[in-house]
Amino acid sequence: MAKPKLLITRKLPPAIEARAARDYDATFNPSDVVRDGATLAEAAKGHDAVLCAAGDPMGAATINALPAGVKAIATFSVGYDHVDVAAAKARGIIVANTPDVLTDATAEIAMLLVMACMRRAGEGERMVRAHAWAGWAPTQLMGLSVTGKKLGIFGMGRIGRRLADFARGFDMQIHYRDVAALPPELAKGATFHATDDSFLAAIDVLSLNAPGGNATRKWLNAERLAKLRKGAVVVNSGRGTVVDDAALCDALRSGHVAYAGLDVYDGEPRIFPGYHALPNVVLLPHLGSATIETRDAMGHRALDNLDAVFAGQKPRDQVN
Ligand code: 8YV
Repeated sequence: MAKPKLLITRKLPPAIEARAARDYDATFNPSDVVRDGATLAEAAKGHDAVLCAAGDPMGAATINALPAGVKAIATFSVGYDHVDVAAAKARGIIVANTPDVLTDATAEIAMLLVMACMRRAGEGERMVRAHAWAGWAPTQLMGLSVTGKKLGIFGMGRIGRRLADFARGFDMQIHYRDVAALPPELAKGATFHATDDSFLAAIDVLSLNAPGGNATRKWLNAERLAKLRKGAVVVNSGRGTVVDDAALCDALRSGHVAYAGLDVYDGEPRIFPGYHALPNVVLLPHLGSATIETRDAMGHRALDNLDAVFAGQKPRDQVN
């Protein structure tokens, strides 16, 4: 039986490309060129499935331009705000993501941002690299203690809950905001807030771990930022679309928000220009799941989902 023809939109880890080459008639992207929707749809001609990644524009226009033979879109990500899952469903195309396998890595980056902001690691690192460090001083680069502070998690899914686990290691008190309270075995004593007002007023550090999409677009706007305590810290390892960048930059300039740590950006890799010159911001290049182990696990998970489709089974991570 002929191997299914698979379009792989990005350059993936070697072990994943080897498995894809073994089990599929795969089309790779060795130069890792990022393509627009029309080019991706064109490239999908003659293929049975697409293995894409966040950042690939798999909106309705792209999906409606895909050839009739495409049965599935597997995304190399847990987030699928870049895929119009309703448009795919309307065409009978299965969409699957890669949850669980990147939970630890992404929660690690969230905790890193909390630490880097509150202990001013970015400023310190820049000072040393600029040969501007004249030695230790009693009041130099004094930050904020992380230990014992109140961490507020917006989006208490797998990654948010794992971050809570890590933060408890720093004796942080966990508060969260989500559509509903979690069962006790998942909340593990974390405090649920049914309103933004009570949530934002209760915390020292806000971590954004919610998915992208219309439901959370610009959730952190000027009005909600003003409800944070003066001197609060904001970190985002979820999606950049959740933040109103102009409002956050204003809050950072005024000092209402003491520090922000960002790993994701609205329209990335474009970054809102207001951030670059601010000393009290840590800017990472979407490192969330960027570990060797995690990226291999994401690739295997995506291929597991595709194997299920071509075996006539429902993929474990189907989202539509
Ligand atoms: C991915 C992510 O690395 O999984 C997600 O949703 O944002 C990251 O883990 C990145 O999006 C590549 O697909």
